[in-house]
Amino acid sequence: MLKGRNLINTDDFSVEEIDEIMALAQDINKSPENFSNSCRGKILGTLFFEPSTRTRLSFESAIHRLGGDCIGFSESQSSSTSKGESLADTIKTVSNYVDVIAMRHPKEGSSNWGSHYSSVPLINSGDGGHQHPTQTLTDMLTIKESKGKFSGLTIGFCGDLKFGRTVHSLTKAMSNYDDNHFVFISPEELQIPEYLKIELDNKKCSYEEAKKLEKVIGQLDILYMTRVQKERFFNEADYIRLKDRYILDNRKLKDAKSDLVILHPLPRVNEIAVEVDDDPRAMYFEQARYGVIARMALILKLLGVE
Ligand code: CP
Repeated sequence: MLKGRNLINTDDFSVEEIDEIMALAQDINKSPENFSNSCRGKILGTLFFEPSTRTRLSFESAIHRLGGDCIGFSESQSSSTSKGESLADTIKTVSNYVDVIAMRHPKEGSSNWGSHYSSVPLINSGDGGHQHPTQTLTDMLTIKESKGKFSGLTIGFCGDLKFGRTVHSLTKAMSNYDDNHFVFISPEELQIPEYLKIELDNKKCSYEEAKKLEKVIGQLDILYMTRVQKERFFNEADYIRLKDRYILDNRKLKDAKSDLVILHPLPRVNEIAVEVDDDPRAMYFEQARYGVIARMALILKLLGVE
C-alpha cells in the first residue's frame, strides 16, 4: 500500500511496489486521457531550495495533467527561508496547504529529516549528492519501455559516479533484479562510493570498474552518461581537470551495440556531443518525457486516487 507514504530513498519501496508504479506509468503512457481528472482538487507543493528544470517542471506538469494544482517556490531566496525560517517550520506550514510535497535541497539527508515534520507524503526530489529516487523511476520507465525488462542487462554508468546521486539511486534499484552486470566508468577521483560497492557485494551483484569508455562500450546494453557535478566540488581546479574526461561522440559509438540505449538524467554540459542526439539510440530527451509519466504514477499512488 503506497497511499500516504514518503519516498526518500529508492529502497523505501519494495521491488513489487516499484513494479506496481511502473505498470501504472505504462498505462498512463498508453492512455493519458483516462487520468486527466484523477487529481481534481488535489494540490502539489514544490519546495525547491536548489536549481532544477526537469524535476520541478515535470512534477508541475504531472499534477496539471492529472487535473490538480501546484504551488511552491523554485529558490530559497523567494521563500521565508531567506528570513531565517527553519526547514522544519517551512514543511510544517506547507503541509497545511497541500496534499503532497516534492522537495529538493542541497543537504544530504534533508528530505528524510524534513519528512518527520510533514503531515502529507514527502517526495525527495534530490538531496545533495545522496539520492534522487524520482529520477530513478524516470530512468526505470525509460528502460522498461525501451528494453522491456529490468534483468539480464549490462548497465554502464560513466562520469561523475561519486557525486552523481542519480547513479546511486539507479544502481540500488537495478541491483534488486536478477542477472544485471554493472560497469562503472570513471576517473579514480570520481569512483562510485564504497558503501554502494559493499551493497552490491552483499547482494552478490556482478560489477567492474573501468577508466576508458572505449574499452567497455561494446558490451553495454545501457549507457548512463552523467555530468561532472560542479556544484559539489570544493576545489575549482579539480573540476576543470575532470569535467571533460568523458565525451560520448559518434566515433565512440561505432563500437557500441545497435540496440544500446543511451541515457542521461540531464542537464548535459559537454559529456554527450550534440551530434549524438540524432542517433536512434539516444533516449535522453524521451527519458525527460517519461519523467512526467513516472511522476504522474507516483503522485496517484501516494495520494491513493487511482
Ligand atoms: N535530472 C534532473 O534532476 O534535472 P534537473 O536538475 O533539471 O531537475
